Amino acid sequence: MFEIAPSILSADFTRLAEEIIAVENAGATILHVDVMDGHFVPNITIGLPVVKSLRKATKMTIDCHLMIQEPGRYAVEFVKAGADMVSVHVEADVHLQRTLTAIRDAGAKAGIAINPATPLVALEEALPYADFILLMSVNPGFGGQAYIPTSTDKVRRLKHMIDGRGLKTKIEIDGGIDEGNIMVVVEAGVDIVIAGSAIYGKENPAESVRQLLEKGTVWV
Ligand code: DX5
Ligand code: ZN
Repeated sequence: MFEIAPSILSADFTRLAEEIIAVENAGATILHVDVMDGHFVPNITIGLPVVKSLRKATKMTIDCHLMIQEPGRYAVEFVKAGADMVSVHVEADVHLQRTLTAIRDAGAKAGIAINPATPLVALEEALPYADFILLMSVNPGFGGQAYIPTSTDKVRRLKHMIDGRGLKTKIEIDGGIDEGNIMVVVEAGVDIVIAGSAIYGKENPAESVRQLLEKGTVWV
């Protein structure tokens, strides 16, 4: 079983409530929210007030992906705003274990996000403090980029690392997922599939959610 997490980055922000209800009714269980600071990544998106509003608009799990420097300064604020899952980048936080513990103590699931060129060994020490790993399959910053093919093997190696330690850490994948590659990543061990342009870049986002769920299920 895997879950679909539509990324609102590619949604129509003038109709955000409608866009969210459509994917929720189609079977999406997690809403992925990309927070960018124009510093860790070369783009600026949305922040705490939007998360607070989203919390009122949906019962889906809210998953905040913090692409910001020094995420420890803001992570708990996102939990207070309504996030159920918060991930911080291993590349952006020199006090990662502290941040993960603070997220858990605040009542949310704590995640470590990792860029395509960062080796998995960077996760080793903090892994027991994380509920999930967000594996980036594009370089973060923008929606609509092409999937980096070496990510599939990275998922397999991460799954091996988690299973080998007897942990229950979930694997999320983020970037360039579409109907053509979803079955490959699910088969490799992904639990949560994030998709932005493959849902909100399409004519009918609800139908795209249903199709992605169907295409990914073939292999499980
Ligand atoms: C990219 C973001 C992603 C983005 C994915 O930095 O973290 O969540 O929305 O978009 P697609 O699915 O279009 O690659
Ligand atoms: Zn993301």
